This record gives sequence, C-alpha cells and structure tokens, in this order.
Amino acid sequence: MSLLTRRRLLRRAALSATAAGAARTGLAGATLAGTAAAVSVAGCDSPPERTTDAEPDGGLRFPDGFGWGAATSAYQIEGAAKEDGRGESVWDTFSHTPGRTRNGDTGDVAADHYHRYAQDLDLMRELGLRSYRFSISWPRIQADGSGRPNQRGLDFYRRLLDGLHERGIAPMATLFHWDLPQALQDDGGWENRDTAERFADYADAVFRALGDRVPAWLTINEPKTVVQNGYIWGHHAPGHQDEAAAYLVAHHLQLAHGLAVQALRASGASGRIGPALNLHPCYPADDSAEAAAATRLYDGYENRLYLDSVFTGAYPQDVLADLGPDSRMVRGVRDGDLKIISSPVDLLAVQYYTPIYVTGGGGTVRKWPTSEAEWQQIYPEGMYDILTRVTRDYGRVPITITENGLPCPDTPGPDGTVDDAGRVSFLRDHFAAAHRAVRDGVPLESYHVWSLLDNFEWAEGYDQRWGLVYVDYASQRRVLKRSAHWYREVIRRNGL
Ligand code: FCB
Repeated sequence: MSLLTRRRLLRRAALSATAAGAARTGLAGATLAGTAAAVSVAGCDSPPERTTDAEPDGGLRFPDGFGWGAATSAYQIEGAAKEDGRGESVWDTFSHTPGRTRNGDTGDVAADHYHRYAQDLDLMRELGLRSYRFSISWPRIQADGSGRPNQRGLDFYRRLLDGLHERGIAPMATLFHWDLPQALQDDGGWENRDTAERFADYADAVFRALGDRVPAWLTINEPKTVVQNGYIWGHHAPGHQDEAAAYLVAHHLQLAHGLAVQALRASGASGRIGPALNLHPCYPADDSAEAAAATRLYDGYENRLYLDSVFTGAYPQDVLADLGPDSRMVRGVRDGDLKIISSPVDLLAVQYYTPIYVTGGGGTVRKWPTSEAEWQQIYPEGMYDILTRVTRDYGRVPITITENGLPCPDTPGPDGTVDDAGRVSFLRDHFAAAHRAVRDGVPLESYHVWSLLDNFEWAEGYDQRWGLVYVDYASQRRVLKRSAHWYREVIRRNGL
C-alpha cells in the first residue's frame, strides 16, 4: 500500500491528547500551516473569527418547507442495552473492553432514550423540528444478525415513528449506524461478504415492518469511518489495524448499501433511500504540483471511493491503482457488484465536519482552529465547497445534510442555563454557507444538526458534548442549551 495511504489523516484521533496518543494515531506528523494556526479549542468559548465570506445574518431565507432537523443514532442515545431481546453489538464488546473508550464509558445507559423517547419527542416539538434523523439498532431487530425479527424491537421504533407523526415531524431512519451484531462480527464481520447479504435481509424485515411510516431511509452511516477508524486505526469497533482488510470492508459496505436499495424497491415500500456519506473537501496545503497530485488521490480515498461507486458504477481508477491489483479489495470485487452498488438512489445524505489540507508528501496540515474534537477544523466554507462539488460532479440528486455540529465543553451556569454561544456562531456560519449553496443551485432539502442530545461519542465516551440539548447523565435531566433556543427561532423564521 502506498505511502500516501499509510499517512492518511485519521478522524477522532486520540483517546488522549498526549504525545503518545498522538503518535499512536498518526497526528504527530501533522503540522500547522497558515495564519489562523493556533490549534485551540475554538468555536466554543468565544465567538470565533468568521472563517467564511458568507452573507451576514439577516435576510437569509431557506426554500419553503425546508427540513430543519436534528440527528442521533441508536447506540449513542438509547441505552437499555439488554432489554426487550436486544442482542450485543460490536460497540457493546468494544466499549466494555478496558482501555478502548475514555473513562471506560459504554452505551449501556447513554441518554436513556429507550425509556424517555416520549419526553424527547416533546423536546423535538418544542424546538419546532420538521425532520428527525435517527438509527435503527440492528441487534434490537435481530439479536444475532439474522432470522426472524424481534417484535419487541420493531415495536419500539413503531412507537417512536407514531410519536413523530403525531407531532408533525418527518422521520428519516438510518439502517446501520455502526452497531453490527456481535454474532456477525464473530463470523468475520464486514470482511465477510455474507454480512452484506445479512444486512439486506435485515433491511427487508425493517422495510416490511416499518415501511409505511418512514418516508426517507439511509443505508449505511459513514462507511468511511468504519473503514478508517474501525479497520485502519483501530480506535472504533471492531478495533482492528489491518489496512488490507479495511478496503475489502469498504467494498462490502458499499455492496450492502446497494443490496438494501434493491430490497426497498422489492418490498414495495414507498420511501426514498440513499447513502449517508461523510465527505471531506480536500485542498492542497501549498501551491506545489506534488501537493495537487497528492490531494487528488487523497480525495479519491475520502470521497470518490464512496461517491463514484454509487453514482457512476465504478470505483475511481486512481484509488484502485494505488491499492494494487492484488489487494484484497480489488480481488474481492465480483462481476455485477458495481451494478448493485449503483442501483439508483433517491437522495444523497452529506455529513460535513471538516476540511483536509494535503501536503506534497501525502501528509496533512491544519489551517484552521479545531474544536474539542481535534480532527475537526472549523471551516464553514468547506460546506459550500462540498455541496456545490457533489452537485457539479454527480448531478442534481436531492441532498440532505444529515450531520453537522461541534462539541463544546458545555456546563450549566448557576441559573441552570447552558450558554453555548460558540455553537450558535458555528451553526450560523454553516447555515449561511449552505444557503449560498442553495442559492447557487444545490438541491438541498434539509439540514440535521448533530446532535439533538448530548450522547455517547464513541471512543470519546461522554466527555464530548455535541447536543443542542444538554443531558445531565446522573439524573437524565434535559436542558435546552442556548443553541437550541436560537435554532428554534431559525426554524420559525425559516432562515437566519
Ligand atoms: C459522525 C458520526 C456520529 C457522531 C459525529 C460526531 O461521524 O456519524 O455518530 O459521532 O460524527
């Protein structure tokens, strides 16, 4: 595998910011570039400098009926890990393995949403949400990843869906947000092609049980994060460090996506469906020809691998060449697979958090302040760039933003309120960038802030708070942060 591949930036870098942690995760090689340099926890304590030339507040109206929303995922909020027949997922195993998550945190209880969903639905109504993106837990539906669906698991999601409909909130359901049934992992997980077939069966069961209540489906959440974090860097479940396996996993995840699209059509359910991709605009770190070439390949691994296969029916040639003809991935692609993967979709879900700056040597540098999540550089203009780019390169497929947000060190003040002014300016700047993209022709339908609630942030446990709503984990009390109050006004006015 090429040098470039090995030096790829990683997401959600370290469990700790120690030098050892950074070295382990590869960040040690990252340097600072540009002037906005200081790698600080920006964006949270102070309204950051504007890093965009977006229009100032005022007068930015979104298209009528724009789907203002918020997002969550099952393992991050539900808790009730052992209730109503739920089986174990790779994240149960991983988080219960000492040293894998910060403070040994697990999703056993999380935000206890499984029991408090009715209260959370009321919060969504209070916010005025028009759309809610959540995920269905595969091990709640099939404890071991196959066989007859568990009615109690399906009933939970039906109650949730009914509650959304009663409140006039459009549901958007993700079929897989990383909680693979452990039993399937024991059989090889996503390295095993059969897991893609199991996923299609699970999807079919869900479509048949809930298809009448769900207008929009997303297949696989961020396949790239499973590939990079789960199989290259190993700090997400299943915790492997095996680059050769990683891209075979990528192919099987893409195959699973395509099979699920076909299963939806076959089920007769009327909902729309598409992939949920975290896209990273990649920019050269300097003006050299080397940086330009390295950026192109980097973009192949970050974006085109997932976009081209779905929208053009081919993996990008430069990535295939870089992986090599003898790679497990290239050998794992069978005739007809790309046809399945490129089954026509109805929408593209984009998750945008950060840009990437690539050096001539294939390393990465930081140009903008980071949030508490050190992999995240705050650059709203990247939102504009990625949205306009996908429309330019792949045509006018309807787009939904299914994640965007940042973690802040939120704590309630003496009066009990949570003043996350930095989140307000972050969202304002990103909404403005999205608005410019709409103005320039991007068919953007909706925008889901990550996240509705503070939750279990994977390897970071409960340390990072990404919610519009503060969760006091000891009492499970919810408090609308300042950003939630602000967002309610944005939604009411349909703009800034
Ligand atoms: C995304 C994940 C989501 C959450 C945010 C911060 O990559 O899809 O679950 O962790 O990052």
